[in-house]
Amino acid sequence: MRPSLGVCYYPEHWPEAMWEADAALMAKTGIRFVRIGEFAWSRMEPRPGEIDLGWLIRAMDVLHRHGLKVVMGTPTATPPRWVLSKWPDMLARDVEGRERKFGSRRHYCFSHMGYRDESARITRILAEALKDHPALAVWQTDNEYGCHDTVLSYSASALAGFRDWLKTKYKTIDALNLAWGNVFWSMEYSDFAEIDLPNLQVTEATPTHYLDFRRFASDEVVAFNQVQVAVLRALTPDIPITHNFMGSFTQFDHFNVAADMEIAAWDSYPIGRLEMREGTGPLKTRFARQGDPDMQAFTHDIYRAVGRGRMWVMEQQPGPVNWAPYNADPLPGMARLWAWEAFAHGAEVVSYFRWRQAPFAQEQMHAGLMRPDNQPAPALGEAAAVHAELEALGAESALVAKADCAIVFDYESEWAWESLPQAKGFSHQEAVYDQYRHLRALGLDVDIISAHTRDLSAYKLVFVPALFAWNDDLKQAMTAFEGQLVIGPRSGSKTPDFHIPDSLPPGLPRNFLDVKVVRVATLAPDVPVPLKGGGQVVQWLDKIETGAEILIKTEDGWPVLVRQGHVHYLAGLLDGAGLQRVTEMAVRAAGLKTHALPDGLRLRRTEAGVLVFNYSLESHDLAALGFSGPFGLDGQVLAPAGVAHLPG
Ligand code: GAL
Repeated sequence: MRPSLGVCYYPEHWPEAMWEADAALMAKTGIRFVRIGEFAWSRMEPRPGEIDLGWLIRAMDVLHRHGLKVVMGTPTATPPRWVLSKWPDMLARDVEGRERKFGSRRHYCFSHMGYRDESARITRILAEALKDHPALAVWQTDNEYGCHDTVLSYSASALAGFRDWLKTKYKTIDALNLAWGNVFWSMEYSDFAEIDLPNLQVTEATPTHYLDFRRFASDEVVAFNQVQVAVLRALTPDIPITHNFMGSFTQFDHFNVAADMEIAAWDSYPIGRLEMREGTGPLKTRFARQGDPDMQAFTHDIYRAVGRGRMWVMEQQPGPVNWAPYNADPLPGMARLWAWEAFAHGAEVVSYFRWRQAPFAQEQMHAGLMRPDNQPAPALGEAAAVHAELEALGAESALVAKADCAIVFDYESEWAWESLPQAKGFSHQEAVYDQYRHLRALGLDVDIISAHTRDLSAYKLVFVPALFAWNDDLKQAMTAFEGQLVIGPRSGSKTPDFHIPDSLPPGLPRNFLDVKVVRVATLAPDVPVPLKGGGQVVQWLDKIETGAEILIKTEDGWPVLVRQGHVHYLAGLLDGAGLQRVTEMAVRAAGLKTHALPDGLRLRRTEAGVLVFNYSLESHDLAALGFSGPFGLDGQVLAPAGVAHLPG
């Protein structure tokens, strides 16, 4: 599919008399896809069973007349008030057991069966009414599953669902007691009906109890989504289905949810996202108006994997947002740069959120492509520029090219370490991201791959940081792999039931990797462990016995990086200098050509040449940095927010 622009539009927020001019201006700007509908249930069905889709069809007619394609959202993220009257127990409950009330959005509990039926019903009504509309191009199910912390619900419906899920998994209560280690503290159960959710215990529940609850909660999102997908498949078999996921969000397994759909879309708010990260620091100050220069790329690469190659940005920040503690105005040009970067990482569509800033309700301070007074906001011109530049490029399909490096990313590992951190804030995703940033700083392209990957042969270098437990597919793929493999700290340190493996971590055959983690030290922020030769271990140190060759040690002699043939074990989380050393060694061993980049300058190779992005506040002369022209788009000297296009 030709890389294209889109926009999110809410015809129900504006007088019908404005729609025609809106559509005309969208088309003139070069927009091709318009997402509508996802919050409009109270206008689609104002009272139970009283359906009014006339306005929606008229809005689609208008868009169609202007050559625009519609992405139709099912409205299930915002059940109207009458749905709650019908199902008073449909509300999610927070970890303290309190109801999450009506009056904003996403108040439903994923496990409520009555609400699942409502969601199937409204989806069917929409699909039946719209299935032959010529503008209908893509379905979006719901909106941002899990937003506002809504995956984990501690309701009666969740409890009933959890008990059933456990029964299906373990069959017998003895098997559950064994897996959870319930002999510890006399926690043994004699019936599944005795089991509770892992909240409000006196102190922590067992990590396996937590982890099973997280697995269950993730499966509930999959099941909720499947209900809509089944309806849509039956009625509109030729219309692709997507969902707009959130960046950095790990409360459910996105690979599993997306497995039922054709496209993985995500919502990109670079500035809000950086501002929401904890703490302050140079990154936040330096990139306050641009966003973290690696975070968007990282998330594109995740969702390209999640979507099995098909990725969209369904919502792209166009200006200041409303939901971070402080909401900076993007540097002029960023709405263009972000779109180009998304295309360079394989996005088929980049769709700005939203067309016009709403003058009312929660998001009245959130910018759009148009101001509330219906005059263009700065991002409108930037979107038009992207469109013109895409046309000039003439690409007929997504641009991304295959990478030589890959990093394994696994949602379950994130839940595992949240269940038993051992070091405050230990995060699989952070370990993956840290590795990712270091590779990109060397000008390398990276693929993110699932932990259930069966074949690594496409890569020269693969990293497996902090992966909770092995699975057979990955183990076989690692055994067959001939490239350089770097297994990171804490990988394979648990069985799938969350026990320490009998042979001690990482639990791999000695002839593959002769490493045994005999003890673990975790390190408070002010007590890092220095490495011989530069850098430090931070937060986590596996103390290992090994027969492998030792490449890096701590100053007090503990092996930190070891090598056995092409397999490496990295026994700690490292600070920037340490991880840079390890990354450079691995990249050299893999024979990859690097191009060290200044802070904030990043690149992505594509089928159509190399795209270079300047997130920094300084201009960069690309020729002086060793790049060769001709320098397309913004040219050789790249100003802040500039994008250059170079031959491949
Ligand atoms: C997203 C959401 C949109 C809108 C937007 C504001 O999380 O999907 O509906 O709220 O954020 O930035």
